[in-house]
Amino acid sequence: MSPHREVREPRIILGLEPALACRALYVARPCPSVVAIQLVAAWILWAIAAFMVYVFLSGLLWGAGYSPTSKKQLEAAALLLQLKDGDTVYDLGSGFGRALIFFAKEHHAHAIGVEVDPLRRAISVWSARRRGVSTSVTVLRRNLLDVDLRGSRKVFFFLSPLLMRRLQEKVGREMTPGALVVSVEHRFPDWKPAESRGDVHLYVVPTPKTPRRL
Ligand SMILES: C[S@@+](CC[C@H](N)C(=O)[O-])C[C@H]1O[C@@H](n2cnc3c(N)ncnc32)[C@H](O)[C@@H]1O
Repeated sequence: MSPHREVREPRIILGLEPALACRALYVARPCPSVVAIQLVAAWILWAIAAFMVYVFLSGLLWGAGYSPTSKKQLEAAALLLQLKDGDTVYDLGSGFGRALIFFAKEHHAHAIGVEVDPLRRAISVWSARRRGVSTSVTVLRRNLLDVDLRGSRKVFFFLSPLLMRRLQEKVGREMTPGALVVSVEHRFPDWKPAESRGDVHLYVVPTPKTPRRL
């Protein structure tokens, strides 16, 4: 017998194609391609989990988390706000831009979003561009409580009960009497809605009891 034993390829040893041989030998020595696929899958799972935790925690941080408005709620809001071509409408806490794009696309309004979360703001700007309404949609990266609402006549939001009292005070202080405000799900603590369609509530800004200081 020859002292030099033949060193054979996995293909020859197993009589298999390289991919199958690789799988067969995986127990002994992991294949680079299989390891790469497992790493990518693990990263994708981690990214999804991190994103979900982020969406949940950002709600605790800013006072309202993310929850999308339904098409039915958006249609009710547009009706209550009497939206028409060329109107300017604000969405306070505009999330991923769903309402902004709806108002711009379906009602030809100029939609101004205020979103504190930079990632949601960036995605909404990208979505507006993708849906062909980037010229009608503006998204400010701001805390909605710091935005000056003087001069705005139509305002929409879907926030949380925690923000409603401060928003009621802000709207009453800054917006012109007769201006329209629509809130999805949550009500102002002291004002009665002028009209409600399901859980979408319309408020007409009242005249202040004491004259405002200019
Ligand atoms: C329920 S989502 C509203 C979604 C959006 N209006 C729509 O219809 O698709 C609430 C959004 O308000 C934002 N938000 C919460 N508190 C905020 C604050 N103080 N200033 C600005 N945005 C805020 C959150 O980041 C979240 O994206």
